[in-house]
Amino acid sequence: MPPARRFRDPPAATPPPTVQIVTGRTWIHGRLEAVEIGIDEDGYIRRVAKNLTGAPRRDFGEAILLPSAVDLHVHFREPGGDPRVESVADGTLQAALGGVGLAADMPNTQPPTDSVDRFQDRAGRARGRAAVDLLLYATPTRPGQIGPLGRVAGAFKLFLGPTTGIGDPPDPAELPGLLGRVAETGLPMTVHAEDPQAFRPGPDPLDTVDWDHHRPATAERRAIDRLRIAPPGLRLHVAHLTDPGLIPELVERAVSFEATPHHLLLEATRGDGPRRKVNPPLRRPSVRAELLRAFREGRIPCLASDHAPHSSEAKDRPFPQAPSGVPGVETMLPLFLEEVRRGDLDLGVLVRAAMERPARWLGQPMGRIAPGHRAHIIVIDFRDRQTIAARRLHAPCGWTPFEGWPAVFPKAHLLGGRPIVEDGEYVGRPVGQLRRPEFASGDAVAPA
Ligand code: DOR
Ligand code: ZN
Repeated sequence: MPPARRFRDPPAATPPPTVQIVTGRTWIHGRLEAVEIGIDEDGYIRRVAKNLTGAPRRDFGEAILLPSAVDLHVHFREPGGDPRVESVADGTLQAALGGVGLAADMPNTQPPTDSVDRFQDRAGRARGRAAVDLLLYATPTRPGQIGPLGRVAGAFKLFLGPTTGIGDPPDPAELPGLLGRVAETGLPMTVHAEDPQAFRPGPDPLDTVDWDHHRPATAERRAIDRLRIAPPGLRLHVAHLTDPGLIPELVERAVSFEATPHHLLLEATRGDGPRRKVNPPLRRPSVRAELLRAFREGRIPCLASDHAPHSSEAKDRPFPQAPSGVPGVETMLPLFLEEVRRGDLDLGVLVRAAMERPARWLGQPMGRIAPGHRAHIIVIDFRDRQTIAARRLHAPCGWTPFEGWPAVFPKAHLLGGRPIVEDGEYVGRPVGQLRRPEFASGDAVAPA
């Protein structure tokens, strides 16, 4: 793991010189303005001004420069996944092309990442193979490992409900101790919030409407209730929120949360096949519409893909046997840039949800075009509207739930100032770093 670099340390007496200037327009103070961005040799933004001189320039003209997205929630499946379906190399390539500069990868690997040895094995496999930066979650299922894992992992993920690669949730009696130990590590913790005691037994689910009935939103509510015992020092985040009715309570409790493109844009429909089977399930149209309204109003702090690829063969099994999950790291930002292009979403709302807040949540010097932040920058031309087609995407699983949807893909992507995407094609090398949070001592536990 590279040594952590603290972005809030006092500036060095002689700041490293600017070695490159990138120009275009960017979103500053609530509007688009022409800017020049000075980048140092370590790939950090040094200066942002109207006019900079003294270094070679890369001019993007009228195009829009945004910070790369930070995706809090992906499943790249190493180790133990089917290498024909996904790997860290494949997943981070899709991230690069979709405008994601850091992906936080979940621990429901095989075996689950629940000990330091397993964590180090997984980190070793990722090193030198990631096209973008990577932060690795661990899961706190072995209590004795939580403290040691806290010294190496990027974050924790707690599964309160069963899902891919995860069986029984922790014993309720052990939950307070587990939450307390995680709080002591200072690392953020994301929770898969479904309480299986609220699942409804019944005949085999045959479509997404049945699946919603079987794993209802009350299961999400009950799991979130169970987290009330969390100590105040715990940085707590709820993954893939589906019930917009829970937003006021989460805000009041200062708990961070995310919504996914599939829960925002797709809904449970009679006759829908297992390709749309996800955990938690897609919800009925009125709930989905309310969730999207909340997102557009800026009331959902984070957007995250929950990229969870499965082979089309597995997804085409009968509904009860098909695995849950859809791919999405390459399409997340393009789908919502299209919402911005259409005028349905404010660019500032998207920048906060896809870039600023996830970066802050993970303690990363990213998500903003500002001095001291990594020069992870994407270049957008809103005239360049495309149609999503699985054959043009880079997911080895070869399918997408968003086939035929309009989208705006980044034209270019710089990682630490170096081009990794040009004219929509990957031109990089696997220079992504393994990252850990860099919280400053005064940082608020809850995201602003
Ligand atoms: O739909 C899902 N797929 N939900 C999860 O919680 C896990 C994920 C996966 O890993 O396939
Ligand atoms: Zn997930």
